[in-house]
Amino acid sequence: MQNENYTKHKIIGIVLSVVLIAAVTFAFVTETARTESVSALAHKTSLQRGRQLYVDNCVSCHGSRGEGGVGSVLNNSGLLKKASDAVLFATIASGRPSTVMPAWGQAYGGAFTDQEIREIVAFIRAWEPNAPVVVAAVFVPDAARGASIYETACMVCHGENGKGGTDLYGNPLVALNDRTQLGKHDDAWYQQTIVNGRPAKGMPGSSNVLSANQVSDLIALMAAWRNGETVVSKTTVAQLINSALFSLQQNDGEDALFYLKRAKTIAFGPAINRFDPIISNIATNQTAALNDLTSLSKDWPVGDPVNGETIYVDACKSCHGDAGQGGVGRKLKPNQYVQDNTNADLFQFMLVGRDGTAMRGWQDRLSESQLADVIAFLRTWQP
Ligand code: HEC
Ligand code: HEC
Ligand code: HEC
Repeated sequence: MQNENYTKHKIIGIVLSVVLIAAVTFAFVTETARTESVSALAHKTSLQRGRQLYVDNCVSCHGSRGEGGVGSVLNNSGLLKKASDAVLFATIASGRPSTVMPAWGQAYGGAFTDQEIREIVAFIRAWEPNAPVVVAAVFVPDAARGASIYETACMVCHGENGKGGTDLYGNPLVALNDRTQLGKHDDAWYQQTIVNGRPAKGMPGSSNVLSANQVSDLIALMAAWRNGETVVSKTTVAQLINSALFSLQQNDGEDALFYLKRAKTIAFGPAINRFDPIISNIATNQTAALNDLTSLSKDWPVGDPVNGETIYVDACKSCHGDAGQGGVGRKLKPNQYVQDNTNADLFQFMLVGRDGTAMRGWQDRLSESQLADVIAFLRTWQP
């Protein structure tokens, strides 16, 4: 018997199997990679289409980076964490009835297919890993703001700081700042009284004149009075001068006088001498009064450059340089913007700052007279 030798076949068989397995593995590996890259590509183009749709349709209200505007902040980690893709999809498709947020889905009369809305959702979702935490602005009632509102809407009848006054017929009114009286009623009662007024007795309702937040500021003022606090209003001399100017332009000398006299009580600096001549001219020579008031409104506030230098060193030097040479902030010595603008313009600018830059507003950090001083100091740097 001759033993047949199969060794050769076995070896060939094993080699072929190995090759086959390798080929299959190779095909499998490359196929996975290929599918992955195809789907990555698909994802990328769908993101790009989503971006284009967003740019064309949403930027005007939600901002180019989702930072918000008329529309809410979309680039917002809180929102993106809370809202699943399905929720975003539904919101975009159906809009927000009774707001300006339109419905975009064809099922709701909008222009977009479901696929297009999914692309927009994917684009918005891509912000999530780097989305900032956005803290919604919460309204906090403020007694000082309340005092400014009080001065324009209530003081005529109720007197300065609520000390009492007279109604339209000259009958005396109880003091609003009386602590015993204030202790008898709670905030809700004051809210009702202010909103509804006492029409029969000559106290107008304020629901059409003041917003709910303004009423809350007034209630904060009452609460401060109840605690025996003295509240200084946030009204600036500049605001009162502007109100006086507006009144005089309307030929309303009485209101102009009212505002100017108040302005004078809180005015400061060298321009304080310019109030009295205007006040006396209002009765005798309105044209002269109007001219002088117009120029005062442009020059106000006038401050003290020596004080201003100290404030500059504390508050401005870090960004604008110790000699005004600039740094994070612009060069201020010399500076065209300072030269081209009136004190009134610079004061407004300093109050609010410049949006989206490191130049923040100084409204709550420097007073009107401090800002006047620093502006006077900047003027010493101009030719
Ligand atoms: C005309 C202005 C406007 C346009 C255009 C607009 N939106 Fe809005 N959007 C709003 C407003 C306003 C709100 C907030 C509505 C509310 O008060 O509930 C809002 C809300 C949203 C919300 C819900 C956010 C949240 O906080 O719950 C999403 C999501 C949204 N918009 C996406 C979009 C997308 C995507 C587009 C473009 C396809 C778009 N919006 C276009 C005004 C707009
Ligand atoms: C045109 C004059 C007038 C104006 C303006 C006015 N009030 Fe009055 N107010 C009155 C009269 C009159 C009464 C009723 C007094 C009475 O009931 O005897 C009154 C009553 C009140 C009372 C109730 C006081 C109490 O203890 O009974 C409050 C609170 C009050 N006013 C707050 C305000 C506030 C806040 C404003 C500004 C938003 C304002 N008023 C504006 C005339 C005015
Ligand atoms: C945290 C940095 C910073 C501080 C602090 C700062 N500024 Fe600025 N300031 C800037 C920047 C940045 C700009 C330019 C903004 C822009 O790009 O439009 C600027 C602009 C200005 C401008 C307008 C100049 C121009 O040419 O448009 C004036 C005026 C100015 N600052 C004055 C001040 C004064 C006064 C203070 C101190 C009370 C102050 N700044 C504090 C950063 C700062």
